[in-house]
Parts: sequence; structure tokens; C-alpha cells
Amino acid sequence: MSLLNFLADDQLNKEQILNLISLAKDIKKNPKSYNKKLEGKSVAMIFEKPSLRTHVSFDMGINKLGGHALYLGQQNGKLGERERVSDYAKNLSCFADAIVARVFENSAIEGLAEHASVPVINALCDLYHPCQSLADFVTLSECFDDLSKVKFAYIGDGNNVSNSLMLMAAIVGVDFTLVCPEGHGPSQAMLSKVEQFTKVSGSTFTFINDINALGQQDALYTDTWVSMGNEDSSDKTEVLKKFMPYQVNHQLMENAQASIVMHCQPAHLEEEITTALFDDEEKSVVFQEAENRMWAQCAVLVSLFAK
Ligand code: NVA
Repeated sequence: MSLLNFLADDQLNKEQILNLISLAKDIKKNPKSYNKKLEGKSVAMIFEKPSLRTHVSFDMGINKLGGHALYLGQQNGKLGERERVSDYAKNLSCFADAIVARVFENSAIEGLAEHASVPVINALCDLYHPCQSLADFVTLSECFDDLSKVKFAYIGDGNNVSNSLMLMAAIVGVDFTLVCPEGHGPSQAMLSKVEQFTKVSGSTFTFINDINALGQQDALYTDTWVSMGNEDSSDKTEVLKKFMPYQVNHQLMENAQASIVMHCQPAHLEEEITTALFDDEEKSVVFQEAENRMWAQCAVLVSLFAK
């Protein structure tokens, strides 16, 4: 399978996602048989925002595939300020074989993809986090035998991670429930896309505000209540008051009869998830998810360079 770019979940079809999941699992099982896939290739990684897992997993993953990664940190500021996005894309295309970018706005990812002559990978923007959702679907497929029977719920702030997860679930055909406090759900445009995909895949999508209506679930997922870049516009006291009933803890897991809990990290312990649940080695798969970031991204890179 070859891909042109990896920008957003809804630009992939079910077959491409399932292929990426099985490729990621194969690379994880036999990394040595992929260690020349990126031989002679250099990947430029732009980070407008902080990162631990994304930065390290891309760097180490590219190294495992025989390629070279270059980190461009926040010293260059926001894309488009010091230089136009199009000039970033054209300059980096002179040297690099692919561009990984973590940006504030999705328009910067689209601008890079439009003007670069090399593939672009979205390493998080305001709307999507497709590397995370792909890794999470690898993890789900490791935890459950049949993805099509999994009941998956995201609880908390409707953000880039929940957008990517609900799109991927709808495309692949996983029943998905989204629970957000009123006013913190996804945009109507995102909800309409998900609805369209479920019509094709046949899975269900439920969006509710009432945490008591969660019902039985196999896997619960949560993420920060305030995403990077939104810190200044959020009143912490207000956020805590509004979101505390949506905290993912052992009681919620028991009520939902869920067997695993997931989090993209960084976790804000005792806010969206309790320390006890995050550290619960029987239920929490957060480090399996973190490791799978690397294998999922390796699968994306191998597919981008496949002839
Ligand atoms: N929603 C979070 C994800 C961090 C990996 C953020 O954008 O900050």
C-alpha cells in the first residue's frame, strides 16, 4: 500500500486503516525486517508545540527503519510568522524526504501538504491527531480479538484526539460513544462526517452530555480537559467544576463494565483520570498505547515510501 500524505483520519478508507494496523503489528513483531525501509531518507520534524511521545517515537522509529530524523523545535515560532507556510514547505522539500509537523492550526498542515513536494504527516493540530488514533486502534486490536465487536467510549473534552478517534471508529466500524459536557462537544461539521462514515461501515455513534447514560463499554478513553494552546482562554476553576463529573475513575469503569482504560498522555492526574486508575496495571494500557505510537508511525512511514 502506498500513501501520499497522512493528514487526517477521514482521508483514509477502511482498507487503508486496517492495512496500517496490521503493518504496524508486523513491524512491532519483526522490526529487523524493516530496518532498511528508510535507508538514505531524511525526515524533517517541525514542532510548534511541546512533545515527549511524538518527538521520541518518531525519532526512534525513523532510526529503526534506517532513516535520519531532524528535530526543528519551537525556536522557529509559529509556522507562517517568520516565513510563509508555503516557503517552509518548499525549503524543507529541498532537503528532506518527508515532513512531520505538530502545529497549532490544521490550515498549516494543509498548507505544508499543498506546497511540499514530499509527503507530510500530521503529528497533531487543533482538529486531528491521526498518529494517536492509529496507535490506539493498534492497541485496541491487541486487546480485543474482534474490533467490530468493541464498544469504545471517549469521555471529556471534544478535541483533536476525540475527533480522530471517532472518525477512525466510524470508518473502521467500531461502535463509539462520545460523552462531553454541554458546549464542549465537536463541531457540527465533524459530527456530520462521522454520521456519513457510520452509514457506510454500519457501526453506531452516540453523542451525549449525560455521563450517567454511558451504558456498557469495553474501553474507556480520556484526554486533558484543556489542550495545548487553549490554556490562556480557559479558566481553570470553571473547567474543573464543569468537568469533574466526567472524571474517569474505578467507579466509572465498574459502572460501564469496561475492561481497559486508555489515555494519549500527558495525563493530568486527579483531573480527567485518577492516579489509581492510570497506574492500574490490569486496566490501564497507556504505556502500550505510547509504545504503539512508534510502530503505528513506522507503518505510516513505510507506506509513504512504498513504491
Ligand atoms: N488534546 C491534547 C493531546 C495531547 C497529546 C492536546 O492537544 O494538547
